[in-house]
Amino acid sequence: MSGTKALILGGETGLLGMSLAAVLDDAGWEVTSTPRPDKDAWNPVVLAELLDSHAPDVVFNTWAYTQVDLAEDEPDQAQRVNAVLPEILGRLAADRPFKLVHYSTDFVFGGKADAPRKEEDTPAPECVYGRTKLQGERALLALNLPDLLIIRTAWLFGPGKKNFVRTMLDLCRKSNCISVVHDQKGSPTYTPDLAEYSLNLVRADAKGIYHVANAGRASWCELASEALHSAGVPCEVTAIPSADYPQKAKRPAYSVLDTSRFTETTGITPRSWVQAVRDYVYRETTQQG
Ligand SMILES: NC(=O)c1ccc[n+]([C@@H]2O[C@H](COP(=O)([O-])OP(=O)(O)OC[C@H]3O[C@@H](n4cnc5c(N)ncnc54)[C@H](OP(=O)(O)O)[C@@H]3O)[C@@H](O)[C@H]2O)c1
Repeated sequence: MSGTKALILGGETGLLGMSLAAVLDDAGWEVTSTPRPDKDAWNPVVLAELLDSHAPDVVFNTWAYTQVDLAEDEPDQAQRVNAVLPEILGRLAADRPFKLVHYSTDFVFGGKADAPRKEEDTPAPECVYGRTKLQGERALLALNLPDLLIIRTAWLFGPGKKNFVRTMLDLCRKSNCISVVHDQKGSPTYTPDLAEYSLNLVRADAKGIYHVANAGRASWCELASEALHSAGVPCEVTAIPSADYPQKAKRPAYSVLDTSRFTETTGITPRSWVQAVRDYVYRETTQQG
């Protein structure tokens, strides 16, 4: 697939987009990356011009309103980016020959669960961010595009942009004690790994919804502890319940993703999040991040 043309919406400054750009570039793809959507992006004529001027083989849509708590105060804005824009993009994809790869989130799930979430499990988002991301998925699926891939992922960390792991490391360099929530469980995911796994799915010509994340499960507290341990930062981590750390948006208590469909399609088992955190921390602490 060397020489394949990719357009990465959000590839210039997005956490995932930057890793995607690096991985595709290494794979010999011709990559064009954009910044966040400007006010004209909702104009189908302008978006069509962007698509037609690059004539991509694959469009990766990482654009999203990702400020989960702020979304509670700005639901219309969140909906415009997470639901309206994907639908406009999908309509343009319908009569153009590119594959559309769209990203979604574990926050489409809610309620109680004790087994990793499968693609066909019923979503029940508990916050504006999750609801608008689900609307985006459904708007795209309703278009019956011949070549649509929706990748649900979770708890991203990686180089180039603020993220939970970097925030924990920074906090602990300033203070020798932090409190972190222990009663939310999810699938921490390293953006360079997710980018590589996305490429594997495209190479396998995957279509429909896939869950993609690093292997294993963690609470935010376990993720922070592992990062600090890897960095050798002396810091006491206290596990607290969500009730002691009020946030505007309700997060799922359990949103671990089952990635077996990804493995069946690609033959690849994602590596563990612990391994990925160690790589990332090494990269950050040796100034390569
Ligand atoms: N981060 C996570 O933990 C996580 C977890 C599950 C799923 N996802 C999904 O994975 C995809 C990529 O996420 P990411 O963490 O890479 O996202 P991100 O870096 O926060 O943002 C991705 C792109 O969207 C733009 N953007 C962010 N907030 C925006 C806003 N309020 N209005 C307009 N544009 C905005 C960014 O622009 P700027 O760079 O200028 O901000 C960037 O171009 C998204 O679909 C997201 O829903 C993320």
